[in-house]
Amino acid sequence: MSQSSDSSNAMWGGRFAGGPDAIMEAINASIGYDRRLAPQDIEGSRAHAAMLAAQGILSDADAQAIRDGLLTVLAEIEAGSFDFSTALEDIHMNVESRLIDLIGDAGRRLHTGRSRNDQVATDFRLWVRDQCDAAIAGLTALQQVLLTQAEDGVDRVMPGFTHLQTAQPVTWGHHMLAYVEMLGRDVSRFSDARARMNECPLGAAALAGTSFPIDRHMTATALGFDRPSANSLDAVSDRDFALDFLSAASICAMHLSRLSEELVIWSSAQFRFVTMSDRFSTGSSIMPQKKNPDAAELIRAKIGRIFGAQSALLMVMKGLPLAYSKDMQEDKEQVFDAADTLMLSLAAMAGMIDGMTANAPAMRAAAGQGFSTATDLADWLVREAGLPFRDAHHATGTLVARAEAKGCDLPDLTLAEMRQVHPAITEAVFDVLGVDNSVASRTSYGGTAPANVRSEIAKWRERLA
Ligand code: ARG
Repeated sequence: MSQSSDSSNAMWGGRFAGGPDAIMEAINASIGYDRRLAPQDIEGSRAHAAMLAAQGILSDADAQAIRDGLLTVLAEIEAGSFDFSTALEDIHMNVESRLIDLIGDAGRRLHTGRSRNDQVATDFRLWVRDQCDAAIAGLTALQQVLLTQAEDGVDRVMPGFTHLQTAQPVTWGHHMLAYVEMLGRDVSRFSDARARMNECPLGAAALAGTSFPIDRHMTATALGFDRPSANSLDAVSDRDFALDFLSAASICAMHLSRLSEELVIWSSAQFRFVTMSDRFSTGSSIMPQKKNPDAAELIRAKIGRIFGAQSALLMVMKGLPLAYSKDMQEDKEQVFDAADTLMLSLAAMAGMIDGMTANAPAMRAAAGQGFSTATDLADWLVREAGLPFRDAHHATGTLVARAEAKGCDLPDLTLAEMRQVHPAITEAVFDVLGVDNSVASRTSYGGTAPANVRSEIAKWRERLA
């Protein structure tokens, strides 16, 4: 087998006579993707070095050299001039090795009282924590554009569906607010996840803690954590924080997928409830008339990747003994991909919602079809004629059947036809058969009445301000 290098690893080569096989190096290295953790790695190292100096474990001069050196490394990485090495496996050893090149012996002291195990756990937590914040920002922006749509159509009537069959008229504002509520729970899931993950693993060292008199509270505070994690074995060996993130992301992606599906349906020629903006549509290479909602379709599908990442990481973690195992290096790529996918989906969804135009006449026409006010008729019979609801339901069902046979809608039946079915029916019934009256009457808490929707929009505007 080929040898990738003549010499053993500079960072841990003391007990090795030769370097790894090229294939070993290929399977072992994570630098191809964990370079994304460079800013977090450097931030963590800076906090660690400052703490070592404060505790008298490092001299102030060494700590100063480390601090400056790490800033140089960061600048090199940001400038794209950093030479990442596969032989150095991962971001932690790449950064440390370059630091040693730059500042010599002081750099060799940085790794005192820590291990790559607590280092990677810290870096990754910092990264995932940032993604929780990014998800919350993306969700809030999407909620804002949904609220604008809701305001625009507070009393715009549309059909509400169950089983994708016309059920009862609802307002567009109410429908938009349904998603605002869902996304609000997504926000709370990301913020719960963030609060739970906000403990600092740094100082757990390899797995057992360290004999150096480190101050874990100091590093935890410096890195914005609420506290250091209490058990060193747990600190280096769990990735439940990433699973919490992925689980919130999966549920959020599920919500986005449902909204996408509605956009696909609503923008079809059969529905025409909305027109998507050109900026978020695509054409067909063969059919000149086509305007396709590709972004909605893609977001509808993205949950496959996001939930795939969650199930992949669960499988990686399942059955691992404490504490660290190299299996856990497989935690990162899918989380990176899931986070990127979610942020892009949130941004694209906000763009689509912001740019879409509602077609009020089409929605209104559809809202009146399919006997959508049958429940209003049944309720009227209960209220005005004192019928038990089951009897009112039956009488209304008979009327629907008659209208269907006649090929008309409920309000098109004559009073005489109605009275044949139930003599208690009067002219006044026609008032409740219109879609506007129907939605206006749904004033129960959480109902679709425009008055209700108006006050819910005001509450959300205030909450998001
Ligand atoms: N690249 C490694 C990872 O992502 C860092 C930790 C390696 N620790 C070790 N003992 N080999 O998990």
